[in-house]
Amino acid sequence: MANLGTWLMGIRLNNPIIVGASGLTGLADGVEKAAGSGAGAIVLKSLFEEQILATLGKELEGIDIDSYPEAEAFIARTAWEEYSEEYLELIRESKKRAQNVPIFASINLVGTGNWAEFARRIEEAGADALELNIAFMPFSPSVSGREIEQKVLSTVKEARLATRLPIQVKLGSNYTSLPHLVHGLSKEGVNAVVLFNRFYRFDIDLTSMKLAGVQPLSSPVEYHETLRWTSILYKRAGVEIVSSTGIHSGEAVAKCILAGASATEVCSVIYQKGWKVLGTMLEELDEIVESLGFSSLDQMQGKMAAVNAQHPEEYLRLQYIKALTGFY
Ligand SMILES: Cc1cc2nc3c(=O)[nH]c(=O)nc-3n(C[C@H](O)[C@H](O)[C@H](O)COP(=O)(O)O)c2cc1C
Repeated sequence: MANLGTWLMGIRLNNPIIVGASGLTGLADGVEKAAGSGAGAIVLKSLFEEQILATLGKELEGIDIDSYPEAEAFIARTAWEEYSEEYLELIRESKKRAQNVPIFASINLVGTGNWAEFARRIEEAGADALELNIAFMPFSPSVSGREIEQKVLSTVKEARLATRLPIQVKLGSNYTSLPHLVHGLSKEGVNAVVLFNRFYRFDIDLTSMKLAGVQPLSSPVEYHETLRWTSILYKRAGVEIVSSTGIHSGEAVAKCILAGASATEVCSVIYQKGWKVLGTMLEELDEIVESLGFSSLDQMQGKMAAVNAQHPEEYLRLQYIKALTGFY
């Protein structure tokens, strides 16, 4: 057996397969199952800022905000407190039921503020780290990429001031210069980035002429973008990397570690195959590590990263070239 242990943000994980945030980890029962099935760490389902905002909207009904401008901030803080108590209880219960497996709390932010105090309370409740899922939708033509990135950075700054917990930021892949943003995050004290979040997708229902949701699970061919950016950013942007999206096998985990990931997060594959898949993936990973001649994951990490490559230009190629693909 190879040593599959790995370091992430100063925390030792027994193995690099983290169960990502989703309904699977929204209740302590699920967290216990994840721990029993071999998870290296567990990210709890996110507390969504939008839920807080919905509560806030109801509380503010009938209040004349112009006459009482301080009321909004006060009610926002109260809404966070009310909503968050249940979440803090989930953290405490998870810590009890999944002893020895690190528990990461997760907040999904849309950027309105008032949540920093909650980050402090997450630390008190016993979480081992905080994952911030930050995604600001660039809907308006008047908002520049720089403004969006500044908003991400100032959100993170607020979190860093509020808690001493290790922080990992889960990002989408659609930034103009991901290395620049990630480097900025590292300067704000972020410890790791999760590459990538997978966004809600919609379709158009031609019968009802309405927007329709599509099934939310990833497929095993979706990890290539993750692999590209993991290998480009390893040791080049000042943060550790957790690879995520489309990781459905021990083989994909092994590739992400070779690219430079400290760990991986998985979600869809558990929905599709059940908790037992974690054991299967770990066995497969162990076999691959040994077959490549390594005795531990630490030896293997980053061996295929751009920073260690003889031909780094291969990592920069964006367009298809006839000779490269064989497609005419
Ligand atoms: C049903 C479902 C619920 C999810 N809930 C959350 C969530 O609460 N917070 C979050 O950050 N990501 C959430 N995600 C995204 C996953 O954590 C993960 O980033 C994404 O599914 C990509 O990983 P995968 O390819 O292994 O599924 C959810 C995904 C699914 C399918």
